[in-house]
Amino acid sequence: MKVLVVGSGGREHALCAAIAQSPQCTKLYCAPGNAGIADTAECLPVKVDDKQGILAACRAHNIDFVVVGPDAQLEQGLADDVREAGIPCFGPGRAAAEIEWSKGFMKDLCARTDVPTAAYKRFTDADAAKAYIKTQGVPLVVKADGLAAGKGVTVAQTVEEAVAAVEDAMVDHIFGKSGTEVVIEEFMEGQEASFFVLSDGKTHKFFATAQDHKPVFDGDKGPNTGGMGAYSPAPIIDDAMRDRIMHEIIEPVLNGLRDMGRPFTGVLYAGLMMTKTGPRVVEFNARFGDPETQVMLPRLKSDALALLYACATDSLDTAAIEWRDEAALTVILATKGYPGEYKKGSVIRGIDKAEALPGVTVFHAGTRRADNSDLTANGGRVLCVTALALTIKEAQKRAYEAVDLIDWPEGFCRRDIGWRAVET
Ligand code: AMP
Ligand code: GLY
Repeated sequence: MKVLVVGSGGREHALCAAIAQSPQCTKLYCAPGNAGIADTAECLPVKVDDKQGILAACRAHNIDFVVVGPDAQLEQGLADDVREAGIPCFGPGRAAAEIEWSKGFMKDLCARTDVPTAAYKRFTDADAAKAYIKTQGVPLVVKADGLAAGKGVTVAQTVEEAVAAVEDAMVDHIFGKSGTEVVIEEFMEGQEASFFVLSDGKTHKFFATAQDHKPVFDGDKGPNTGGMGAYSPAPIIDDAMRDRIMHEIIEPVLNGLRDMGRPFTGVLYAGLMMTKTGPRVVEFNARFGDPETQVMLPRLKSDALALLYACATDSLDTAAIEWRDEAALTVILATKGYPGEYKKGSVIRGIDKAEALPGVTVFHAGTRRADNSDLTANGGRVLCVTALALTIKEAQKRAYEAVDLIDWPEGFCRRDIGWRAVET
């Protein structure tokens, strides 16, 4: 099978590394990929948002199977177009992916299917939204309806903050079209967990759990990022809780989508708040998580390509999902300044030393090979230093040993990834 993975982050590096191990993979391409992915796949110089370019690459290279990594491409209907071209695709079409790209759609679907989530109201008028905030009091959460690269959510501790968030989205349009509608919702308290389920549109199977750390600084302080580290499995979700989540949250939502004529093909990622009264939905994503993928796929014993292909070809019912005994933890190395402004182009050394440690893999996110073949930083999140070990505590120790072997003065990381899992 000739396989094309679409995307360029750490998630796509983990996907490529897992797919490349499959005996069914005869040739692996990635569009556009990064310097790390280039060691396992042939990187094609096609921009991730160039849908026509990706379709042309599929034809030029006789691609048999496409795996879509990022959300924006699913919203753009890339999976629909790939399937229209006669090529199986891992990833939902635009209609099923609306569960991620419109928070209002997701909340209405939860309400209709009785899935527990924060109480909410949708607004297309800024004054009405502001008036509502004043009747509610704080804390409350203001969300731009559409995709906003993880920046569209404000957890407001004061009325002023909530009103400012409405103005940013609806008056100043800082998220463009994504903010023409906002959802205002109840604040939920608890620990967050990420829950992943594979679906072929008819059958679905539990995949794995993980927890990530979004805030940039130790102690979960500072502004939110795309994710500064993660571990899998999530100790807070035991087998009984997993079954409860499948029954109360996943099944009604997947059935609800199917009943609307929008069967879901790919991976459904539920962001959950584990509250005192039980699991409640924070958000749904229609794709793998980043950095959660970098800790889930190294744990997978089964053939990843066979599993993803089964989702794309209505044959998940016969697929087995087996796991190694180990847990995994990943620490993100980011460029100093991230998630604010940062410089590109600094040189990174020592990845080979880090990867010489047992169980350690370094997935690349924003990296680029310079003309003189130096490895350089080319983004905010740059490396995902991942370790597999028998416990999360061991994996944490090993991952930080590996981090300390990487020579990159312009980078930084959190020093406490996994603290909740290690304490319990
Ligand atoms: P989202 O993009 O919807 O996942 O939101 C980003 C982050 O905001 C989540 O990971 C939570 O930490 C927080 N958040 C979102 N909605 C809520 C809510 N209703 N209650 C508490 N925290 C929330
Ligand atoms: N880890 C958060 C996300 O992928 O959206």
